[in-house]
This record gives sequence, C-alpha cells and structure tokens, in this order.
Amino acid sequence: MNIGILTSGGDAPGMNAAIRAIVRRALADGHAVWGIERGFDGLVNGYLRSMDISSVADILMKGGTILRTSRFPAFKDIAHRALALQQLKTWAIDGLIIMGGNGTLAGALQLTNDGVPVVGIPISIDNDIAGTDYSIGFDTALNNIIGSMDKIRDTASAHDRIFVIEVMGNQNGTLAVAAGLAAGAEAIIVPERVPDYDFIAQRLKETKSRGKRHSFIVVAEGAGSAIQVSSEVAERTGYEARWVVLGHTQRGGPPTAYDRIMASLYADRALQALSDGDYGTMVGITGNDVMIQSLSAVVGKTKQPPWKWLDLAAMLGR
Ligand code: F6P
Repeated sequence: MNIGILTSGGDAPGMNAAIRAIVRRALADGHAVWGIERGFDGLVNGYLRSMDISSVADILMKGGTILRTSRFPAFKDIAHRALALQQLKTWAIDGLIIMGGNGTLAGALQLTNDGVPVVGIPISIDNDIAGTDYSIGFDTALNNIIGSMDKIRDTASAHDRIFVIEVMGNQNGTLAVAAGLAAGAEAIIVPERVPDYDFIAQRLKETKSRGKRHSFIVVAEGAGSAIQVSSEVAERTGYEARWVVLGHTQRGGPPTAYDRIMASLYADRALQALSDGDYGTMVGITGNDVMIQSLSAVVGKTKQPPWKWLDLAAMLGR
C-alpha cells in the first residue's frame, strides 16, 4: 500500500514516536509511506514527502511533530476536501493514518464519508477524546505541569502564598483534575461544574489557620482565567493570591516513557487496521486492551473528567 500519514491540530508529545512506529512497521511490512506536512493544509495543497527508515531516526524522544501541524478549519468545506481527494489520487495514496485530537478526528470522519480509507490515532494533551481511556501526550503534559507546580510550591511556601495555576484542556477538565490530584491542590475548577468559591475560601482559611504555608488552586482554561479566580479568592479570604498560566510549556518537551510506549502501540494497531481493511476507525484503549472502533461512534461525543479523581483530590487536598 501507499500510506499517507499526517499530524493535525495542537501538537502533543508522542506524535513523533507514533510517526516513527508507523514508518518503521509499514516499511518492514512492504508498504511505502508518505509524510504529509502541516496536517490537512498539506493534504489540500500537496505537501507530501517520501519517508524512509532514516527519516524517523532520533525522533522518538522529541516533542512536537517532524511533520509539523496546523489548525485548518476550512477542511470542513467540501471544496477544500475535493482538492484533498484530488491530491490523494495524484499521489496514489491508498490509505491515511491521521493523528490528532477531536477536530482532527472529525476531519478524519469527513474523509471517511468522502470514501477515503482512514484510520485515526487519538493524540491530545487534553485526553478529552471519547471512546478511549487515553490520548497520547496527556501523561507528558501532566508531568510538565507537576514539574512546574513543584517549583512554584517552593516559592509559595517561602512567602505563605496561594497560587492559582491555569492549565490547558480546552473545554474539558480532565487535565486539571489529574494535575490537581497529583499536585495536592486545595481546589480544582473545571468547566463541567460551577465552582463554589465560598467552599474554596473556607478551605483556604482552614488550611492557613492550621499553619499550611502554600495552597494551590488548579483552574482548567475552559472554566475561566487564573486572574479571575485569584480575584474571587482574594476577595473572599483577604489573602494575596498569585496566578500562573502555564500555557504552551505544558505541550513541549520530550515525551514520557508512557507516551512513547502508547504511541508505538497505537501506531502498530493503526497500521494493522489499515492492512485489514478496517477503515473509518480510531485506535484507543479501554482497560488494558488496545482496540479499534468506528470513528462515527466517537466523533462529536463528549468525554467527562474522572469524577472519582476529583472527589478524591477534594478529600486529600487540605
Ligand atoms: O487541544 C490541545 C490544546 O493544547 C488545548 O489544551 C488548548 O486549548 C489548545 O490546544 C491551544 O491551541 P493553540 O496552540 O492553537 O493555541
């Protein structure tokens, strides 16, 4: 087969590990691989290059994506997809492996409906893709957040300060919940629930009166800004609250071992699906099983944050 691969939307650590695994396994199985640069933009405009074994050397440990990426909302438009279909014909591509988050997988489903053989791989630091317990990049982003919070804790303790930490996650609170649990935050604010600032203020007063010298509130970007949360807290407690927006530091850097392994497993399964003719599917994991399911069953669905983790974090962070 002539296999085209692309990464699209927000990059995430582990994309390169997935690219490497696809290329190496596909070549070993006798396929040819074409890297499509800059996601759907590259598909529409024909930015394709042949991938050989050396083209993926020394990328396993690198963040970002060697194929580069883009946000390309115009792909929803049939006129743009028609150009993409023409490119696929011109380059004689038999199937595509498409890597990215919710928007990217929606594009993958549209291509499926246009008759293109497609398999998707969920990659997003947000871990907000329905139908899979895990999206590649989440573990690395989480570790990046925890690394930053551990540093902030030192200065927070030195000054007896409250810190509000804003994390990514788009409209989903999963990353914030996991970060709050792992960092021992006193409060976690997510878009899916209305925050109870009186409860948060009460907890901060209790911990402070007990002699605790630092406090963390983690806020998911989709739930509001760190600035807004710190003024709500300062108003109710009278304490000074500093804020930090971790921003794109969360998304960069070397993927963790877990993300490298998961990216390799997902890539291997995606290639298997393409070889078996299981098109219009997305790879994922439930429990310990790497599996595939229909893209149409996951695209457009909302994934809830892990509520049990949130309850546990609320109990422990005091
Ligand atoms: O989906 C990944 C993500 O990092 C979100 O958490 C965030 O809202 C968004 O991408 C930021 O995107 P951009 O880098 O295009 O501003």
